[in-house]
Amino acid sequence: MTRILFATSEVHPLIKTGGLADVSASLPAALQELGQDVRLLIPGYNQVLDGLKAKKTVANFAVFPGQPEVRLLSAKMPDTLVPVYVLDAPQYFCRVAGLYQYHLGGDWPDNPMRFGMLSRVAALLGSADSPVNWQAELVHCNDWQTGLAPAYLQLDKRIHAKSVMTVHNIAFQGNYERDWLRPLNLPQHVFDMHGVEFHGNLSFLKSGLHYADRIVTVSPTYAHEIQTTEMGYGMQGLLTARKEDVSGILNGIDVNEWNPATDKHLGVRYDEHDLSLKTKGKLALQQRLGLEVDEHAPMLGVVSRLTYQKGLDLLLECLPTLLESGAQLAVLGNGEAELERRYQLLAQRYTGRVSVNVGFDEALSHQIMAGADIFLMPSRFEPCGLNQMYGMRYGTPPVVRRTGGLADSVINANLEGGTGFVFDEPSTFVLQQTIKWAIECYRDQKTFRRIQLNGMHRDVGWQRSAQMYIDLYQTILKTQSASI
Ligand code: ADP
Ligand code: GLC
Repeated sequence: MTRILFATSEVHPLIKTGGLADVSASLPAALQELGQDVRLLIPGYNQVLDGLKAKKTVANFAVFPGQPEVRLLSAKMPDTLVPVYVLDAPQYFCRVAGLYQYHLGGDWPDNPMRFGMLSRVAALLGSADSPVNWQAELVHCNDWQTGLAPAYLQLDKRIHAKSVMTVHNIAFQGNYERDWLRPLNLPQHVFDMHGVEFHGNLSFLKSGLHYADRIVTVSPTYAHEIQTTEMGYGMQGLLTARKEDVSGILNGIDVNEWNPATDKHLGVRYDEHDLSLKTKGKLALQQRLGLEVDEHAPMLGVVSRLTYQKGLDLLLECLPTLLESGAQLAVLGNGEAELERRYQLLAQRYTGRVSVNVGFDEALSHQIMAGADIFLMPSRFEPCGLNQMYGMRYGTPPVVRRTGGLADSVINANLEGGTGFVFDEPSTFVLQQTIKWAIECYRDQKTFRRIQLNGMHRDVGWQRSAQMYIDLYQTILKTQSASI
């Protein structure tokens, strides 16, 4: 049994902006089931403090010299009962508006301090100075928000925990001015290309990639992609130099939370034995969303952050033709203001054929996943992607671009065991052709049923990948003599 601290900036069901929250809930639960002593560390946002019951204060301490004391709370995650430490520093985390941004969309100016503190506490929990009666042997960091933890660990000259850095998205790097070194209690000498420096800035992600013992990305294909100039967002040189330490482990999903037979968000539940119940749910969804109630209209679904990454601008351009041929579209998403606006305009123009909900709505995301016939995910890049796996599990075959985790998880419909519709070129024309192909298949019930069932039978749980993480932890702990 390994003592693992899983440090993350969001976790479902307490607080979520994207797939990181889902993984932060489901991977630790899977590790726990496999016998590991895994504990989470998360910031004490309002939603976290409200959502966790029976919290105990387990430590009071100043994170950086001269700062007021913060509290460390301990509790258990709802449902999975995975132990969780909460960094309770209300001045930094109890805010109205977003986790990372204020309501107008700009980043909180003190993000480096907020997530520098999170990183520092993660490192402390893996050090001889652990403020609690438990010391991690391995600190598992996730994305830039915890990227300084490996640096703090390495700066500790005594025996300390090893670290793994999982990259969920290399486009988000947490790059800030050099002046932050001092408040974050980092020595000037780490500001070096063989350290935390990245194009003249202090980079949280670079720090993680440089100092962590091993680097993991969330799919094998993405592990290759981030070593290229086109997709490495400037980190490719470092990653190539460390290629022996880089691996890709495909995310799994929580197969209990995402199960159409038991989903608490669905009015009509179903499984592979009776897909007519899925159609019943589709009719209810059409009614609820103000779409024409028509069992035979192929319904396309989108649940996504509305950003460049997701390629949804391409979809906007090819939609009119698809809608004219009888398709419907249900969108749930938020993100870039311009994309939100363009989707809302489309909904106004095609009343009864297009429904657009701008916002974040967990229940509706499940209902669209279940009610739609085809799920769309034309991402320009996609480190892993979870929605395509939810789609397959819900008998809603996805249309995906062959990139990152989409390439690793979806089998093209023209192949044996096909589970979705895969295309290569990120263009409006190719996307349109692929959606047309998916709609043709939908109209041929026998073919479509086969694709649906292939997806529903696919193993998308965590078991295999969680075991790969455990093997990796063990390799790291065995090969490094300085471990605890
Ligand atoms: P990413 O993390 O890049 O956004 P993923 O596919 O890995 O993409 O995960 C996205 C997660 O966030 C999924 O659980 C998806 O259902 C959820 N999600 C995205 N946008 C919304 C939204 N507007 N409302 C509810 N859930 C959303
Ligand atoms: C990131 C990626 C997404 C991935 C998720 C969880 O948000 O954009 O592809 O599925 O992290 O790892």
